[in-house]
Amino acid sequence: MTIKSGPASPNGVSNTSFRETNGFLEDYAVWNEAPVLIGTTKFEPLPDVKNIMITGGAGFIASWLVRHLTLTYPHAYNIISFDKLDYCSSLHNTRILNDRRNFSFYQGDVTNPSEVVDCLERYNIDTIFHFAAQSHVDLSFGNSYAFTHTNVYGTHVLLESAKRVGIKRFIHVSTDEVYGEVKDDDDDLLESSILAPTNPYAASKAAAEMLVHSYQKSFKLPAIIVRSNNVYGPHQYPEKIIPKFICLLDRSKPVVLHGDGSPTRRYLYAGDAADAFDTILHKGQLGQIYNVGSLDEISNLSLCHKLLVEMDIITAEAGSADLARWIKYTHDRPFNDHRYAIDNTKLRQLGWEQKTSFAEGLRVTVDWYRKYGHRWWGDITKVLSPFPVLAGREVISDHEPVSDHPQGGSDGQRKKRRIGEVSNDRANE
Ligand SMILES: NC(=O)c1ccc[n+]([C@@H]2O[C@H](COP(=O)([O-])OP(=O)(O)OC[C@H]3O[C@@H](n4cnc5c(N)ncnc54)[C@H](O)[C@@H]3O)[C@@H](O)[C@H]2O)c1
Repeated sequence: MTIKSGPASPNGVSNTSFRETNGFLEDYAVWNEAPVLIGTTKFEPLPDVKNIMITGGAGFIASWLVRHLTLTYPHAYNIISFDKLDYCSSLHNTRILNDRRNFSFYQGDVTNPSEVVDCLERYNIDTIFHFAAQSHVDLSFGNSYAFTHTNVYGTHVLLESAKRVGIKRFIHVSTDEVYGEVKDDDDDLLESSILAPTNPYAASKAAAEMLVHSYQKSFKLPAIIVRSNNVYGPHQYPEKIIPKFICLLDRSKPVVLHGDGSPTRRYLYAGDAADAFDTILHKGQLGQIYNVGSLDEISNLSLCHKLLVEMDIITAEAGSADLARWIKYTHDRPFNDHRYAIDNTKLRQLGWEQKTSFAEGLRVTVDWYRKYGHRWWGDITKVLSPFPVLAGREVISDHEPVSDHPQGGSDGQRKKRRIGEVSNDRANE
C-alpha cells in the first residue's frame, strides 16, 4: 500500500495494502477474535495536546500505546500511527481501531523526510512518541547498518522535522541496554548513569539519544527520553524470547538457548508499559529522562522452566531428563550482557506502579499466543529458528548447530565471527 500522499480511506487503512505489505493472500481476521488489550491508567487530558503521532505504531509496544490512548481518550486526542510496516509489524495490532474517529494510520518511513513532514503537517501533530526502530539485538550483530540507518538517522530525520513544524512534545523511546551490562552486585542504575552500550543495537539507541539531547540543547526541542527494560506480552513478534519459546513449545518443539542460558533479564508486562508511557505523557517533565523498570528478573534458563510449567508440559518438580527433552543449546551472541538493572524511582514518583506480576503476565501471554500467535503474522515458522537472519523484509531460517548441552567458548567464538561476516554481506546486498 502507498499512503505517502495521504490516507487511502477515512482512517487511512486499506486491506489491500495490508495484504501486499505482509505478503498475505487473505485477511485471516484473527484480530477480530482476540481481546482488546490496553493499559489501565487515565489522566485529565492535557489542553495543549491534541494530535499525537506514534511511530512504530504497528509494532509491539507502540501498538499497546496506540490502542490505549485511542480508546481511553476518544474525545481528547487524535492518534496517528506512523509505520513503515516492516517484517515484525502487523496491522492486526491496531485493526480494532479502524472504525474509531480519533485513529488514523499513515504508512511511512522515519528515514524519509518528506513522508515524516507530510504526516506532521497533514495531521497538525503537536506530540510525538518515537518508538519506530530496528529492535532485535540478535539481528544487529550482522545487519548493523540497518540499525544505524533506522535508529540513528531515522531519529535525526524525525527530530529535524519536529523542529521544523514546532512540535510541543517529543517523547523518545530508548532502552535500558544503553547503560550496558550491570554486574550482579551492582546497584540498580539511575537515569544519570553513563551510557556504555555493548552491542550495535544498544549503540544505535544511545546514539539516537545523543541526537535528541543535542536538539534539546541547540534548538530547545521539548523532549523526554524514556529507557525501558524488556517488555513482554501479547502482540510481540515471535522473534523475542518469550513469544518465540511459547510458539515453539506449543508446536511441541524444544526451545534453543543461546550460550548457557545464564544471562538474566527484567520483564515488564506490556499493559504496565502502556501505563508508563501514558503517565510520562501526562505527568513527565520536559527535558527529563525516565527509566521504566520492573523488578521481575529471571535467567533465560529459569524462564524456560517457568514456560514449560505454565504450559503444562512438565511439572514444577520435573527432573533434568524432562528438561533436557525440551531445552537445547546453541552458541551465544557475539557478546551477551549478563544482566541489566535500572532504578524506576523517578517514574514511580510520577504515580506509576507495576500492576501485573510476572506469573500473571506470563499466563495471559501464553494463553494469547496459543490462541492467536500462529496466525497473527502469517507463517512464523522461519522466525522460530535459533538465529534467524533477515534478507530485505524476508526472514530466513538459520542452520546453526544445536546440542543438548551448553556449547564451549572457542567454537562459539569461531561461530560468532562467521555470523557477523555472513550477515554483514547480506546487509550490503
Ligand atoms: N521490546 C522491548 O522489550 C523493548 C525494551 C526497551 C525498549 N524498546 C524500544 O521500544 C521501541 C519499540 O520496540 P518493540 O519491541 O515494540 O519493536 P517492534 O520491533 O515490535 O516494532 C518496531 C516497529 O517499528 C516499525 N519500523 C521499523 N523501522 C521503521 C521505519 N524506518 N519507519 C517507520 N517505522 C519503522 C516496524 O514496522 C515496527 O512496527 C523500540 O524503539 C525499542 O528500541 C523495546
